[in-house]
Amino acid sequence: MKILMVNGSPHPSGCTARAMAEMESVFTAAGIEVEKMLLGTKEIRSCIACGKCRQTGRCVFSDAVNEFLDQADAADGFVFGSPVHFASLSGAMTAFMDRALYAGNEGLKNKPAACLVSARRAGTTAALDQLLKYPMYANMPIVPSRYWPMVHGNTAADVEQDLEGLQIMRQMARNMVWLLQCIAAGKEAGVPLPQHEAERIATNFVR
Ligand SMILES: Cc1cc2nc3c(=O)[nH]c(=O)nc-3n(C[C@H](O)[C@H](O)[C@H](O)COP(=O)(O)O)c2cc1C
Repeated sequence: MKILMVNGSPHPSGCTARAMAEMESVFTAAGIEVEKMLLGTKEIRSCIACGKCRQTGRCVFSDAVNEFLDQADAADGFVFGSPVHFASLSGAMTAFMDRALYAGNEGLKNKPAACLVSARRAGTTAALDQLLKYPMYANMPIVPSRYWPMVHGNTAADVEQDLEGLQIMRQMARNMVWLLQCIAAGKEAGVPLPQHEAERIATNFVR
């Protein structure tokens, strides 16, 4: 089993990375392979709405999005984490998620996603609300925890003191492990994946 973790922060060792590390130790203890992707300071284009991904399953721009989609095919579950920037996801994470989830529905559907945010002080629930919209759109079961999945701090050392936040991360990771095991057991027992209607109905409210 493999989990792909995407960190939408510019900081390789920042708060979001610290929260994700707490989850990673649960995954590795459970024998689950982890791959990590940091959006970092690389340029990530926003969606130009060209619609080409609908034919190819990949974006017309070759950056972290297509790298992610190539790796996603082999992953069983995902963790998406972002710092809070102006009570939203980081700009890089918004651009990444818009394009990745629009292009890559096929490689992602029916695979669980855990979402988390990190902030110095406020805007966490608004940003989390934004982040959760993506797996909800893409037929991805959302992994819960014992509280809303967020950590507080400006540095990784601050997050170290957010004991409740770190516990929430560990619990979310355990819930992810359990969900992956349930999905694997279901597959083994012949439980079929949910059917998806081939033709997508798009009612654009134009009459
Ligand atoms: C452009 C920008 C906007 C920010 N906006 C907020 C905010 O709205 N609320 C907040 O609590 N922290 C805000 N912060 C602080 C970060 O969310 C916080 O330091 C976060 O934990 C950093 O995570 P990271 O180390 O993974 O990047 C902002 C930081 C930046 C750079």
